[in-house]
Amino acid sequence: MNYLEQIDFFENMDPRQLTTQYGSPLFVYSERILRQRCREIKNLITYPKFIANYSTKANSNLELLKIIRSEGFHADAMSPGELHLLKMAGFKAHQMINISNNVSSEEMAYAIDNRCLISVDSVSQLQRLGSEHPGIDVMIRFNPGMGAGHHEKVVTAGKQTKFGVSAAEVQEVKRVLSDFRLNLVGINMHIGSLFMDPDIYVPPVKSLLALAELFPTLKVIDFGGGFGVPYHKHRGEARLDLTALGKKLDEVIKDFVGKTGYQGAFMVEPGRYISAESGVLLGTVHAIKEQFGTRYIGTDLGFNVIHRPVLYNSHHDIEVYPRRKRLLSENDRVTVVGNICETGDIIARNRRLPAIEENDSLAVLDAGAYCYTMCSNYNQRLKPAEVLIDLDGRVRLIRRRESIEDLMRLYHGLAA
Ligand code: LLP
Repeated sequence: MNYLEQIDFFENMDPRQLTTQYGSPLFVYSERILRQRCREIKNLITYPKFIANYSTKANSNLELLKIIRSEGFHADAMSPGELHLLKMAGFKAHQMINISNNVSSEEMAYAIDNRCLISVDSVSQLQRLGSEHPGIDVMIRFNPGMGAGHHEKVVTAGKQTKFGVSAAEVQEVKRVLSDFRLNLVGINMHIGSLFMDPDIYVPPVKSLLALAELFPTLKVIDFGGGFGVPYHKHRGEARLDLTALGKKLDEVIKDFVGKTGYQGAFMVEPGRYISAESGVLLGTVHAIKEQFGTRYIGTDLGFNVIHRPVLYNSHHDIEVYPRRKRLLSENDRVTVVGNICETGDIIARNRRLPAIEENDSLAVLDAGAYCYTMCSNYNQRLKPAEVLIDLDGRVRLIRRRESIEDLMRLYHGLAA
């Protein structure tokens, strides 16, 4: 039995029927799993003023955002587009933080017009904000000096990153805050994306708290995201031990509060942990060929719909749903590729999978984070539909598939 069957991901639905009805490729989400992951994070630490902040960039589907909000989450936005979606999903101004990076005055003004707290991540941006909006509340993103992540491209703290203000700049920060009467209400960090060992998170947390001691006006201290999920489910990879992590964070927080008398809130900011495992990407096998010793499984799962393997060499487990009834006993080493006009368009290289035939369906696991949000129209392909299996086991379309007309939309009304 495959993993998705074990956890009854599709409830009583047949994934092949879903692609017949909604088209292939197709993103399928489970409300049950999404809510479960939200609750695990909500219970991470016992400190009473603990806020779980969802990082919208992982998955910004409006219906999923509504579910996450209903679980009591706040959310972060990176751009006016994310902020707009959060508003549409019902998040109130005090439930959103705009964690910005190198933004224009217009973007800053957009967040401020929406009464949304903005976090800036350089002295230069702090200066811009102060000169244009003196006297307002602000957050600063610090670089705690150490980072982590599944790939160098997603390590967002330490010495090799564009993000954050370093501890060496504290005096400069204080000067700009005072020059423009800015009120520093929060500090935040984000070490990077995907750690599986609780011990990786704690040292940067301590380092952020050491900085927090220098700013007595704080109302929120945000430790950021990065909480990993096991992508190697077939190999039995262990989950991140949230209980152990929570215990360590509780201890560090207790010490800090005891020492400083801090009465504000603590936040974490997971994206992937919340949405990754709630999503599966379904696709279809259209061609099979053997070439110079490699067996290629040709699918509609190009890097326009799942970019992670190409960008970061990321692993996603794949399961096979045969088009016609047959035993899935034999194992083949295959390379699963998409339909994009590039040699690098590979989702799985030299992977042992059950024997696959044309028109079989493939299910790519853990596709709920950084998959749809990183889709593109490369080769002028259309973005897939998204459906949700709700708590009653019913399927609901939560974003329609794009049409050729959608590709033409931006040309409408232009002079010839
Ligand atoms: N907070 C901030 C400020 C962030 O920049 C991010 C992610 C998060 C929170 C959430 O991180 P998470 O808990 O999801 O690890 N596209 C990459 C991941 C890039 C993450 C960027 N920032 C991937 O597909 O692995």
